Amino acid sequence: MTLKRTGRTSTKSVPSLHPHILVLHGPNLNLLGSREPKHYGLVTLDDINRALTARGEAAGALIETFQHNHEGALVDRIHQAARDRVDFIIINPAAYTHTSVAMRDALAAVAIPFVEVHLSNVHARETFRHHSYFSDLAVGVIAGLGAHGYELALEHALRHHQNRTAHGSQKTEKAH
Ligand code: DQA
Repeated sequence: MTLKRTGRTSTKSVPSLHPHILVLHGPNLNLLGSREPKHYGLVTLDDINRALTARGEAAGALIETFQHNHEGALVDRIHQAARDRVDFIIINPAAYTHTSVAMRDALAAVAIPFVEVHLSNVHARETFRHHSYFSDLAVGVIAGLGAHGYELALEHALRHHQNRTAHGSQKTEKAH
């Protein structure tokens, strides 16, 4: 989709009319649909991305999606998000949730507000999944609601943008 980005100046303080939202998926999420359905269901990553794109575009947003199995590629994509003036990130870091200081540092560096999403309830699973390197930086965390979690995160991102547009540039949510 091409959306003209209006109302954007060279500073981050003036929100554009059309929110630019990046959805990031970590390793193995390309296998959704066949991967451990008891934890992740049967929905595919394409299904998730299609639904988010349709809902986002209906609300006038620009939605970009990106999945990668390599940590460095995800770090690079987060850096790119700052150059692209992405307004909000929805991220399922997958296994990197529990290991990646590099991705955490990238999100802290770009200071773009984000919601952390997990399809499964990580707190009801193995203890190594209980710790996240992202949660304390996130605006919020959604876990255990399957693909619906992404949709809820998107609704929040759209509302977040509406609030910013209505109230100017005040950052009321975490953006380290
Ligand atoms: C996951 C949970 C992680 O622990 C796991 O490594 C994943 C997916 C989830 O969406 O439930 O790959 O992030």
